Amino acid sequence: MRLWIVPMVLLAAAGCASPIAPADRERRPAASAPAASAPAASAPAVPATGRLPATERGGADGERAYRPGEGLPAAPAARRVNCRRIKCVALTFDDGPGPYTRPLLDVLARHRARATFFVLGRMVVDDGPGTVRRMVAEGHELGNHSWSHPVLSELSRARIRWQLLRTQLVVEQATGVRMTVMRPPYGATDLRVTAESRRQGLAQVLWNVDTLDWRDRKVSVVVRRAARIRPGSIVLLHDIHPSTVTAVPRLLRRLAARGYTFVTLSELYGGRPLKPGRKYYNRG
Ligand code: NI
Repeated sequence: MRLWIVPMVLLAAAGCASPIAPADRERRPAASAPAASAPAASAPAVPATGRLPATERGGADGERAYRPGEGLPAAPAARRVNCRRIKCVALTFDDGPGPYTRPLLDVLARHRARATFFVLGRMVVDDGPGTVRRMVAEGHELGNHSWSHPVLSELSRARIRWQLLRTQLVVEQATGVRMTVMRPPYGATDLRVTAESRRQGLAQVLWNVDTLDWRDRKVSVVVRRAARIRPGSIVLLHDIHPSTVTAVPRLLRRLAARGYTFVTLSELYGGRPLKPGRKYYNRG
């Protein structure tokens, strides 16, 4: 049993948008590796150089060690998608990468669908750089979903900064991509989260269609809820649940039959940079 199973199960138990006992996760002892330890309350250490200790880059056993800058993926050319003229939908997948993410990428590739993945920094480190690199190489967008999925609005300013910045660092080291969008866990944001997002150049992306796939692990339910979209919708899904990944091919066929194109968030907003700190729910 690999080490990431433990945090994945914990995440699965609470779900991204779940309002239940979110503070538990912050108090929970690190389950996987030294990299998952919670920061000190007073002065979280963020390396000024952007380099992390070797154990945090490659895992405690060193098996997945990689050097920053090594084998960085090249993103495909930007697509010409005009979401003012055609029906677009942005599918977003939170809380990974996990064991079902690669099969999901296979499905998306078969349908030439692009999506946005709001990753957890801790999961990226546990998973290794391969999956996030593949996301970039296949035209998907990456977003910051914090390091360990706390309720950011309940944290100190320093911890909010640490949660976002550390995730920025590990993703940039793995992929060369500096993320420009974030999604606060549980959608919980406030003035301090907004200010820190702005400071780190991150727009806050929420959603207007919630599949509740973390709660209802039934393929038909996920498909039905996700199908309640209109042009410009942002759909919340989780790639850590096999039921969700199983639902995606049906969902793609159903929405494609209705004339939808599956785009990244940047494509949804016409390739223009989203405004750091501002909240986005859908493109109306
Ligand atoms: Ni989440």
